[in-house]
Amino acid sequence: MHHFEYRDGTLFAEDVSVPDLAKEYGTPLYVYSAATFKRHYKAFDSAFAGLDHLTCYSVKANSNLSVLKMLAEQGAGMDIVSGGELYRVLKAGVAPEKIVYSGVGKRASEIKQALEAGILLFNVESVAELLKINEVAKEMDTIAKVSFRINPDVDPQTHPYISTGMAKNKFGLDIDHSLAAYKMTADLDHVEAVGMDCHIGSQLTSIDPFLEALEKLLKFYEKLKDLGMDIKYLDLGGGLGISYDDEEPPHPTEFGQALANMLTGIPLKIILEPGRVIAGNAGIMVTEVVYTKSNPSKNFLIVDGAMNDLVRPSLYGSYHRIGEVVQNGRKTEEYDVVGPICESGDFLARDRELPRIVDGELLAVYSAGAYGFTMSSNYNSRPRACEVIVDGNTVKVARQRETYEDLIAKEL
Ligand code: LLP
Repeated sequence: MHHFEYRDGTLFAEDVSVPDLAKEYGTPLYVYSAATFKRHYKAFDSAFAGLDHLTCYSVKANSNLSVLKMLAEQGAGMDIVSGGELYRVLKAGVAPEKIVYSGVGKRASEIKQALEAGILLFNVESVAELLKINEVAKEMDTIAKVSFRINPDVDPQTHPYISTGMAKNKFGLDIDHSLAAYKMTADLDHVEAVGMDCHIGSQLTSIDPFLEALEKLLKFYEKLKDLGMDIKYLDLGGGLGISYDDEEPPHPTEFGQALANMLTGIPLKIILEPGRVIAGNAGIMVTEVVYTKSNPSKNFLIVDGAMNDLVRPSLYGSYHRIGEVVQNGRKTEEYDVVGPICESGDFLARDRELPRIVDGELLAVYSAGAYGFTMSSNYNSRPRACEVIVDGNTVKVARQRETYEDLIAKEL
């Protein structure tokens, strides 16, 4: 459910017309709906109301400061994966005790930064990292709280690049090594094992893999209890999918209910790290058709948004729905929607049926709120797009369009 809909044939973001936004802020343009963000956050968080839980929005999905502030105001904690993300969430006013820090390659400086901030815990992904955290915490004369990211070896049945909980993936520790790692904490004076963590993948369209992982973790929890360890947190990561096309991912309430069934009577605080399910359908990317051209086998719409602005189609072959911003009622044709970048991999859609489009028309690329702007780059020296947040009938620039000066600002 989102707040991008046609009114008399013109696409609106909440109460603001998208053509007006394009005119005012230019294209390519990311447009976010505040109401959709809030609604998604509430729907997700309340789905777990029956459990003692903390929802930590996964910052990597959309890390714009205004988005983070908006979610923090709703009570969200944050899941971060870098010192840069920590910097952002603190700027956004997130309480440190609601921040969890994941990722396979945390550097000593980032660990120090997180300890100084007083985050809730580190999700630790290797013994080497555990030792590094212990060392940094010792230098700071403090004790770091840690969970181990356990790789449960379940197949999340998603794209291989975003599947993370199988034995062949670089993430976490397998169950046997996890046990050794927990035991090891007993001999380290500056770490305290307080939780268990896993994240098996992203864009999951069934809850079964989550439940399979949970079952393995709960068995493991028993072993930890036998060792006398005081485990308080169970972090199940993110990963709930959204509908880009015709997928029918489970509603968070289905997930919440299934978790509640499995966790009754177990005294663990559940941490969840949703990203895409909150941000994905809360944003669109608006792009203008610069040229149309055809050859004997293809019709092309050459648009001003490119793989540097939205890389998902090029990188994963992902489907993003595309529609006209002003409905034109023409007969459909089949198009490749491509950007101006000098690579054949620069496309937003291939073989897509769209009403016949002419130069200068605007297109909306849907489901671009997650992993859209955050994965954008300056490739081909293209300044990054503007991001705006629409809230009812008000518009706020969440990030200005970059300028040519911005492109070279750090170059000597
Ligand atoms: N927690 C951890 C430890 C993660 O690695 C991720 C995503 C999440 C939470 C949030 O997962 P979500 O709820 O958004 O599925 N760029 C890819 C997605 C990469 C996801 C990486 N990790 C894409 O555009 O599909």
